[in-house]
Amino acid sequence: MEHIEGYIGLCVCFLGLPASGKTFSAGKLSRYFSWMSVKTEVYSSETYLETEYENSDFTVPRHTVEQVNLIFNDLEAFYKNGGHVTILDFNECHKELRRSIVNAAEKRNILIMFVEIVCTDQKFIEENITDICTNSPSYKHIPLDVAKEKLREVIKSYRQDYAPLTEAEDCTFVRIIDFCNEVIVHNIKNYWQSRIVYYLSNLRIKRRSIWLSRHGESEFNVQGRIGGNSGLSTQGEKYASLLPEYVSKFVIGSKGLTVWTSSMKRTIQTASHLDYQKLEWKALDELDAGIFDGFTYDYIEEKYPHEAQKRSYDKFHYRYRGGESYMDVVRRLEPIIMELERQGDVFIICHQAILRCIYGYYHNFSLEELPFLNVPLHTILKLTPTTFETLEERLSIPVSAVSTQRGK
Ligand code: F6P
Repeated sequence: MEHIEGYIGLCVCFLGLPASGKTFSAGKLSRYFSWMSVKTEVYSSETYLETEYENSDFTVPRHTVEQVNLIFNDLEAFYKNGGHVTILDFNECHKELRRSIVNAAEKRNILIMFVEIVCTDQKFIEENITDICTNSPSYKHIPLDVAKEKLREVIKSYRQDYAPLTEAEDCTFVRIIDFCNEVIVHNIKNYWQSRIVYYLSNLRIKRRSIWLSRHGESEFNVQGRIGGNSGLSTQGEKYASLLPEYVSKFVIGSKGLTVWTSSMKRTIQTASHLDYQKLEWKALDELDAGIFDGFTYDYIEEKYPHEAQKRSYDKFHYRYRGGESYMDVVRRLEPIIMELERQGDVFIICHQAILRCIYGYYHNFSLEELPFLNVPLHTILKLTPTTFETLEERLSIPVSAVSTQRGK
């Protein structure tokens, strides 16, 4: 991330009532930044309150100026250690709090941007209350009904002095109302802030899933060769022909499903029996192996031991001569991720390296881990992002295939 002139770093400060979808959006934004190689950290203001929600003499916790300063001391330390972006998650939203945040940021030369999340959908709020009370570190050890009661008390109290952001306040902000039905943007100052607005206004906060699969086993997979544009093997064909039956079982209720493939023969053939709307993306093509396209790993190791060594030393950054690195792939997948966040039900059929990057984004794997993630052939993955994690189900289709997974 390029340096933000005059500031030690950027702080994106989320404001809004609990259960409005704020923590989900904050988590997603952090994942997006980390995946784009921007050193990012989420700070939940709640952890600074140290409230014992299980105590019977529980009082609704409030943020003080001192606490805000403590949080900003930690933010400052993070930037001084090479961090770029911090994401602050506040459950309150009133003017005094904003003033103390702006003051604390100004004192330390931190560029601040507010994101206010507003939700009026009662069904969504109720679902979120259950999710928070079951999974959040503050509530999960308390019986569910007691936790829900306390959280509702907190929401009621914070609602009393809730003050929405207005243009009268001289700050940068985006207000996102009811899952982006309305988005108000004010005083954006630089490239990264506009990326944030773009990302957040594309984000689907309501629960949805995406499905991922590699193409069926290809002729090159059987021969142990990388890259190329070969067709499916006999086993790959079997997988493709069984896919409609399994997709209709596993992708239940997805009438509006869209199937995305790369522009390569093997993914198009894999999707050929599926009777859904289809979209071909060049950006989903497999990692380009450059001059090694069509070679086997053994051949590369034998003829180009130095290259093989360089790749095993730093697989994420290694760029094939005339081709790509995993880092290049992440860059080219950014528009795919943006579009994916905007879309409804999508089934992506593409390639090993590409799926590792997409899968890694949803599960928040470190960039160094991406090139080693296990995405086997003939398996459908269903990913469902929730506030605290991405849920995963795997369905292996009983058609044998070679393994292309290689250890570190
Ligand atoms: O082996 C199948 C394949 O899709 C190749 O085309 C591609 O080069 C490779 O996987 C990527 O995996 P890795 O990064 O582990 O070499």
